Amino acid sequence: MTTSATLGRASGPAISVRGLEKAYGELQVLRGVDLDVAQGDIVALLGSNGAGKTTAVKILSTLLKADAGTATVDGHDVGSEPASVRGSISLTGQFAAVDEILTGRENLLLVGRLRHLADPGTVADDLLARFSLTGAGGRRVATYSGGMRRRLDIAMSLIGDPSVIFLDEPTTGLDPQARLEVWDAVKRLAAGGATVLLTTQYLDEAEQLADRIAILHEGRIIAEGTLAQLKRLFPPTEVTYVEKQPTLEEIFLAITSGTNTSASAKEN
Ligand SMILES: Nc1ncnc2c1ncn2[C@@H]1O[C@H](COP(=O)(O)OP(=O)(O)OP(=O)(O)O)[C@@H](O)[C@H]1O
Ligand SMILES: [Mg+2]
Repeated sequence: MTTSATLGRASGPAISVRGLEKAYGELQVLRGVDLDVAQGDIVALLGSNGAGKTTAVKILSTLLKADAGTATVDGHDVGSEPASVRGSISLTGQFAAVDEILTGRENLLLVGRLRHLADPGTVADDLLARFSLTGAGGRRVATYSGGMRRRLDIAMSLIGDPSVIFLDEPTTGLDPQARLEVWDAVKRLAAGGATVLLTTQYLDEAEQLADRIAILHEGRIIAEGTLAQLKRLFPPTEVTYVEKQPTLEEIFLAITSGTNTSASAKEN
């Protein structure tokens, strides 16, 4: 799904990570993460609780310094050019960053003014419409449902047209309908040419939404590819009449439960 060529953006990966390491005290969380994300792709970073997904996203969005390794986002080095990286990205964190006291529209206006937009009102109204929040725009966020809050959070992160969008667990805690709404919003972002790196623990989310899937386990990306490529790591079970394709959930559990962490072909 690479539409970037039509937008005239620089070629090369939108995100490139080599040998990224991060420890918190004694706890070595990232042990040499390598990852490339092509422009215009939606990539899902999968991993269990505590695998280091938020840590990786924080490093890529310049909120945290890596101990070792390199990472570039939109061609800018996260360590040496953090301001340029920040100018290219948006981050929607794991916990919603909206202001409860303000209305939805006021939240959007606030960010628009912080980003020095010429006409924050028009941008706010456009985003409310895009995220089906026009009717609720004048209400305090404290009265919003979880799905509405999350959609507003994502809408706020899009102000300024970032080319690379980080979404840390965008649908955690949402009901199925709200999840579908967020998925739809994410797909439209990528269709518009943005690159999306999202973290998730929902394997069906990765399956439905992502062009490519990267599995973070024990500090490294132990498998990466399209769903079809990951499925080829685990050939279908051969039975007399029925060919069973493994689900992504089976692939994930098989890869992450093995003591040998290299993702090699295996009969199941
Ligand atoms: N500031 C910190 N100080 C100490 N330990 C931390 C800090 N931040 C994260 N950790 C630890 O690092 C590990 C990775 O955390 P991280 O938040 O990156 O995981 P995650 O994959 O995002 O997990 P989750 O799915 O629960 O959001 C965890 O064991 C966590 O407890
Ligand atoms: Mg996290």
